[in-house]
Amino acid sequence: MKAAVIGGGPAGLFAALLLKKNDPKHEVHVYERNRLEETFGFGVVFSDATEQALAAADPETTAAMAAASHRWDLIEIHHRGKRFTSAGHAFSGLSRKALLHLLAARCRALGVEICFQREIADPETLRLFDLIVAADGSNSIVRERYREHFRPQTDIRPNKFVWLGTSKPFPAFTFYFKEDGHGLWRVHAYQYEPGFSTFIVEAREETWKAAGMDRADEAMTIAFCEKLFATELEGHRLVSNRSIWRSFPTIRNAAWRHGNIVLLGDAAHTAHFSVGSGTKLAMEDAVALAESLRAHREIPQALEAYESVRRPPVESLQRAAQASLQWFEDTERYVDLPEIQFAFALLTRSLRVTHGNLRERDPGFVSRVDSWFADEAARQSQVPRAPGPAPPPMFTPFRLRGLLLENRVAVSPMCQYSAENGMPDDWHLVHLGARAMGGAGLIFAEMTDVSAEARISPGCTGIYTPEHAKAWKRIVEFVHAQSRAKIAMQLGHAGRKGATKLSWEGDNEPLSTGGWPILAPSAVPYYPHSQVPKAMTRADMDHVTADFVRAAGLSLEAGFDLLEIHMAHGYLLASFISPITNRREDEYGGPLENRMRYPLEVFDAVRRVWPEEKPMSVRISATDWFPGGIGPADSVEVARMLKAHGCDIVDVSAGQTVPDQKPVYGRLFQTPFADRIRHEVGIATMAVGNISSYADVNTILASGRADLCLLARAHLWDPYWTRHAAHDLGYALPWPDPYESMNAYKPRFT
Ligand SMILES: Cc1cc2nc3c(=O)[nH]c(=O)nc-3n(C[C@H](O)[C@H](O)[C@H](O)COP(=O)(O)OP(=O)(O)OC[C@H]3O[C@@H](n4cnc5c(N)ncnc54)[C@H](O)[C@@H]3O)c2cc1C
Ligand SMILES: Cc1cc2nc3c(=O)[nH]c(=O)nc-3n(C[C@H](O)[C@H](O)[C@H](O)COP(=O)(O)O)c2cc1C
Repeated sequence: MKAAVIGGGPAGLFAALLLKKNDPKHEVHVYERNRLEETFGFGVVFSDATEQALAAADPETTAAMAAASHRWDLIEIHHRGKRFTSAGHAFSGLSRKALLHLLAARCRALGVEICFQREIADPETLRLFDLIVAADGSNSIVRERYREHFRPQTDIRPNKFVWLGTSKPFPAFTFYFKEDGHGLWRVHAYQYEPGFSTFIVEAREETWKAAGMDRADEAMTIAFCEKLFATELEGHRLVSNRSIWRSFPTIRNAAWRHGNIVLLGDAAHTAHFSVGSGTKLAMEDAVALAESLRAHREIPQALEAYESVRRPPVESLQRAAQASLQWFEDTERYVDLPEIQFAFALLTRSLRVTHGNLRERDPGFVSRVDSWFADEAARQSQVPRAPGPAPPPMFTPFRLRGLLLENRVAVSPMCQYSAENGMPDDWHLVHLGARAMGGAGLIFAEMTDVSAEARISPGCTGIYTPEHAKAWKRIVEFVHAQSRAKIAMQLGHAGRKGATKLSWEGDNEPLSTGGWPILAPSAVPYYPHSQVPKAMTRADMDHVTADFVRAAGLSLEAGFDLLEIHMAHGYLLASFISPITNRREDEYGGPLENRMRYPLEVFDAVRRVWPEEKPMSVRISATDWFPGGIGPADSVEVARMLKAHGCDIVDVSAGQTVPDQKPVYGRLFQTPFADRIRHEVGIATMAVGNISSYADVNTILASGRADLCLLARAHLWDPYWTRHAAHDLGYALPWPDPYESMNAYKPRFT
């Protein structure tokens, strides 16, 4: 095989040597436009795990890397004059130049032809090669040449950063956060060889511009940063190496291969430097490519196998990098957090490091976090902390007005579509009762409708007659008598999504028979084939408000502890809030304040009859996941208005407004919205959506992203989710008396 590799960076050189190693008869040529000495940047970071993975492919390379690396274990965070240190993070740093030199040496030793100072202007000139490896970096000309095949997407991030070096030998991976008259500056610094460190400075665009850095050359940049960080640099100088201010491009490609051409490394994908993994990804790509070419005789099959193996881990890392870069874009939001929480939030920003794995790496740091969190919870809940070690964050109490929750786990509302005439029955008793016994601090009843016409489906529960209140009371009393959980009612009106089938018979599909007239702010059907709702008149609004008030009174009779108004998921009140579904031209349509007018009228009316000592929450959709709809910034304003009207906590969900929404799913995918609202509005939040591990719950709480975590499907899977968490985390959660024998039982699952 004759292979041409365009680009002599880490991806290109490592791929070249591994291809040659596959079969010494292969002819492998590398074309690099620069001289070996002329590379940008300073040092790169690897973790122990990466090195082990690379060692399997070429131990000679990793041995040479290890010899040239500087190793450390600590992360230091400097914020407002305080320093936090966390241990157990096995990292190594290596100079980019040293890495390229050792890769080039290994290439030559194996017989790879490297042509430095040879720029490939058009990959078509390499058509005679059997394989073309495009490892030509983030500005790849190969990717651009065949754009229509690779279908690249480049997301240019708003922050500005510059990659500098310094002679200061940092003993740890060091983060500085420093405010000056222009704004907040972040530094990511680490030593990569004795006496040399990388020093990346990053800021928001407005801070960077205010400091005049948009007009700065390398010398001015150095002068400015040396002055700003004079205390931190302790007399050491900064140095530049093609150090220009840049915006980070996150690059993704719909395809990584076209004929016999394959994209590798930054040409295919980038990951923000704050997860320190671009070089690791590039080298892992090379390993996977060489393996696929060994396993498949035909190049197209090999390239297909390569892409299918590499895409999932790369995309997973890109998601982590996205979460991490957003944290650095939003750091201004977090600078006022207590120092220890700021440090914890920083360490867990990418979601890869959690309360769980951080506890393994650095138990001391996590127990300080837990202790601080438990003290805060004791203060907030007015429940003195029990003596002894602090519990995991999820097992701390939380107070809302007169309601005291024993822990921070809640069962999210889940429609059961199992009622007749709105009446909850034995199914609901067992369903909610089992989950209350399962240990969660708060159990939400499903969306329960304020009138028969307000139901989503004929199977939905309601609370519009005294009989409904009585049936609910039976469930509430069971929960109160047989568990330590509290129970919340979620009141809703289905709006234009009403009169539809049971979810398993056709989610949101209109009933074929037995439907009823439906209401909405505007006469816009959900699907083109859905029933067209009636645009509500003032009289309709008054009627529905009265239904909500009646339902609140009946919920009080039933004994519920918390009342939630459903303003999410495209149901009636949500459809007033979203401009996609609210096309009104009166004072209830138009700008957000108008669109919020009716939902707030309902909230106020309910708040007036719901007792002062009992809290109220509102579930919102923080985004419609649809152009022209509600976005995260709007939901901050929605939450601000709710707070002003006396809402105690916002339950932050997303979407389900329109059928053609484009949600971005993933682990904890809605938590960033709860985080933003909590910090920007200063109101308590509940996070929900793909939260399922104990570690994630503890991480969300301890980092201040939300005050409560709601789990829906995880609780269908395991009603005893909270008990199992307590067992695994070594926390004693009392059993109900009839299960007393469990106190001496040791579960064994394998
Ligand atoms: C500020 C900053 C800090 C970073 N920190 C880290 C870190 O700590 N750890 C980490 O792992 N990664 C880090 N990275 C990312 C890392 O540098 C890249 O992900 C990595 O270099 C990708 O390797 P590559 O081989 O794909 O591309 P590159 O290293 O960019 O190599 C591409 C090569 O192709 C050559 N080339 C381009 N076009 C042509 C052409 N037409 N003809 C011939 N040659 C061509 C270029 O000259 C270059 O040498 C950082 C990046 C930045 C910007
Ligand atoms: C079966 C089922 C029924 C649901 N019913 C409701 C509901 O009544 N009210 C509501 O606000 N959300 C409802 N949801 C959404 C959940 O409360 C939750 O927001 C969503 O499932 C995401 O959480 P999860 O990833 O933990 O499942 C329902 C979800 C499921 C799976």
